[in-house]
Amino acid sequence: MSDTGPTAFFEDARRRVEDALARLVPTAPDCPPLLAEAMRYALLAGGKRLRPVLTLAAAEAVATHDREAAVTLALPAACAVECLHTYSLVHDDLPAMDDDALRRGRPTLHVVHGDGLAILVGDALQAEAFALLARVPASAPVDIQRRTLQVVARLATAAGAHGMVGGQTTDLTAAGKVPGHTLILDADALQRMHQGKTGALIRAAASAGAIMAGGSPTQIDAVDQWAAAVGLAFQIIDDILDVEGSAETLGKTAGKDAAQQKPTYPALYGIDGSRHLAAEAIQRADDVLAAAALGNTRLVAIGRWVIARDR
Ligand code: IPE
Ligand code: IPE
Ligand code: MG
Ligand code: MG
Ligand code: MG
Repeated sequence: MSDTGPTAFFEDARRRVEDALARLVPTAPDCPPLLAEAMRYALLAGGKRLRPVLTLAAAEAVATHDREAAVTLALPAACAVECLHTYSLVHDDLPAMDDDALRRGRPTLHVVHGDGLAILVGDALQAEAFALLARVPASAPVDIQRRTLQVVARLATAAGAHGMVGGQTTDLTAAGKVPGHTLILDADALQRMHQGKTGALIRAAASAGAIMAGGSPTQIDAVDQWAAAVGLAFQIIDDILDVEGSAETLGKTAGKDAAQQKPTYPALYGIDGSRHLAAEAIQRADDVLAAAALGNTRLVAIGRWVIARDR
């Protein structure tokens, strides 16, 4: 990847991911045309692509010599991460969950095609994420196959009960949407929920890049710890933007968290307190990078972007 500033890198990485995603979505007659169309609708609808960009940026950050080769090696993992993330959004928006009508600037998938097809698109995207990783050629060096298997394990763990699905379960319960159950979150539980529903996949996204690029265990651990802090900051800012942002800028309905009495950082700490905690998380993230001699990589700028963003 060319030696560019953070914005150009972001754009370049985003374009590579978009092109790769467009190529991998199943098409008819391999699957029903309606499913193919619905998968494209969800996956190719814009979106910031932060997670796959993190994968590529982490690969670049730990690459010792050929940075371009490292980024290329990490591209399937980046696509897998975006498939998982998109599936989580499609399900998150369902009436049984957040009941959202707008996503990525368009009507949500269940509004267009109904709940049943939206559930199936999520299921298919999750399966596709792992299928595309598992398609590593049998002729690939054993080392690459091993790295891929490690990434599969991390992504599966992050997406499942220990990570995203676990966090979403807490979210759903605290929002009063699990019959017979009530849950009031204290500060620690709120942080754990955010680390689960959002942080886990962001961590796995970044560490997947470091793993695929052949980073050392110390580097992989540093990238993982960095992304844990970035992931928390990302969800804190998401909560803030739900209060301060507009549907036009966000591409999703604002003000939903308060309307649904969701447990969020602004609800617990106010806007200023939440911004302060997000900035603190990014400071922790910077410290982790500096301690691992990764303080001069693009990851620093990405952390800054996460707390400065308006969408
Ligand atoms: C939204 O994620 C869901 C959260 C975990 C906060 P993004 O804000 O990254 O959504 P897209 O991918 O850009 O649409
Ligand atoms: C979503 O959190 C987390 C996942 C999809 C796993 P939110 O419910 O806050 O995300 P938005 O605000 O709908 O994008
Ligand atoms: Mg939600
Ligand atoms: Mg939501
Ligand atoms: Mg939100």
